Amino acid sequence: MDREVAGEGRRSIIALMLGALLTTQDAAAAGDALGRALYTNCAPCHGRSGEGGFAPALAHNPHLADPRYVLSKIRRGSAVMPPFGEQLTGREIAAVVAFLRSPELQAHRP
Ligand code: HEC
Repeated sequence: MDREVAGEGRRSIIALMLGALLTTQDAAAAGDALGRALYTNCAPCHGRSGEGGFAPALAHNPHLADPRYVLSKIRRGSAVMPPFGEQLTGREIAAVVAFLRSPELQAHRP
């Protein structure tokens, strides 16, 4: 009887852990979708695949390694790039930055 109860406990702990894992993956997938959707704001200048055009390429751009620079550029923009700090929430900016770094955007070869 005691052993059965302990077995139940273990099973529910495993179920809980699996649940947590699935939620993390779902959250990551949702973040990917959000970042991809928000990148449509950037594509007209930076290219659909981050290949650049009017604006510098974001695929294989060494500046992406500097999170402070990237965040400041997106939030504040520059003389030519519009600022997105008012338009996008912190979570949305994080999602778009994750998308910039993702294999999907970085797949473009110059
Ligand atoms: C109207 C055109 C335009 C749009 C839209 C735009 N950008 Fe830019 N962006 C630029 C230009 C031009 C530069 C280069 C000049 C500069 O650094 O300001 C730039 C620079 C950057 C840089 C720095 C690149 C480097 O090598 O220094 C990042 C990162 C960036 N943009 C991300 C984004 C993201 C993310 C979005 C969408 C949320 C976006 N941009 C939307 C025009 C644009």
